[in-house]
Amino acid sequence: MTGKICGTGSCVPKAVWDNRKLAELVDTSDEWIRERTGVARRHIAAEQETTAYLASNAAQAALQNAGIEAEELELIITATISPGDIMPGTSCEVQKLIGAVNATCFDLNAACTGFLFALNTAQAYIAQGIYRTVLVIGAETLSNLTNWQDRSTCILFGDGAGAVVLRTEETGRFAQVTHSIGEKGGVLTCTSRNQKKYEGSPTAPETYMQMDGKEVFKFAVSKVPEAIEELLKREQMDTSQIDHFVLHQANERIVRSVAKRLKEDMKKFPVNMEEYGNTSSASIPILLDELNRREMLKRGEYLVLSGFGAGLSYGASLMEW
Ligand code: UT7
Repeated sequence: MTGKICGTGSCVPKAVWDNRKLAELVDTSDEWIRERTGVARRHIAAEQETTAYLASNAAQAALQNAGIEAEELELIITATISPGDIMPGTSCEVQKLIGAVNATCFDLNAACTGFLFALNTAQAYIAQGIYRTVLVIGAETLSNLTNWQDRSTCILFGDGAGAVVLRTEETGRFAQVTHSIGEKGGVLTCTSRNQKKYEGSPTAPETYMQMDGKEVFKFAVSKVPEAIEELLKREQMDTSQIDHFVLHQANERIVRSVAKRLKEDMKKFPVNMEEYGNTSSASIPILLDELNRREMLKRGEYLVLSGFGAGLSYGASLMEW
């Protein structure tokens, strides 16, 4: 048994900050950001646009798209590194906001690989016959973790949420490859502010996202193709049989490099970071929602999803649309 995506949804904050706005905050330019990242704009949450608010709006849109009621959900998993509250978990807040009274709810933190790992977790529950109707969300308000004085990070990130509804089908294919490299965790970090050592200095730089961009870039362009090749080899498939490669939207240059290493046409690698920046765990489900609503995905097509980020962690999943 596998979970088939039967509905997608997304929600992004109303406010849009373009690159020119960032050039007012740090020493950068629209030209540099576009050229080095592919990002032109990002959506930035207002105070009331919390992670749970964005997540529940994306969830409601996905339920509507799937044509199912919130009460039918048996499990909700939200991937996030930027929850509004440490407890209750964002998934429980979503449950309350959408009225999914029958669902078991928990969150998962795997940074930019979060949605992929949440999807894999949901699929494992489905394969075991434990749950049949599952909501998987990726939701972030990274603007709360962004140091707006650090040009090496603030130009990349944005806020938003995406969600998919999975329904059990007897047939269909799902396979996954996942890896973590804790040893290299220091290249992308954000320390919790809720520690005694920060009582006198709640705005210490290490409590915002810090990144060795070059190292993360090198990691992504080598490990993502490796994971995809490992997955396809295991599944006895070839890249030519894959219709869409839906990658985490971190940097357009990373996506181009992966396409080149796999010797595949960029046409198979949709990108939307121009509009949203890097929304961490939300980027893959937001992109899936856009593709779905534009009717660019056809039943029976093969998709490879791939996430990578802090941990370090990365992986690739194969699914049939
Ligand atoms: O979600 C998963 C995690 N994140 C990622 O996947 C991000 C991976 N890394 C990246 O996307 C890229 O490394 C960045 C976009 C963050 C940086 O691009 P880069 O091409 O690696 O730039 P760099 O750090 O090597 O810097 C090149 C130059 C430097 O100047 P010099 O030393 O050559 O004179 C930087 O000081 O660009 C300068 N620079 C900037 N200039 C204008 C760095 N940031 C900026 C900026 N605006 N925002």
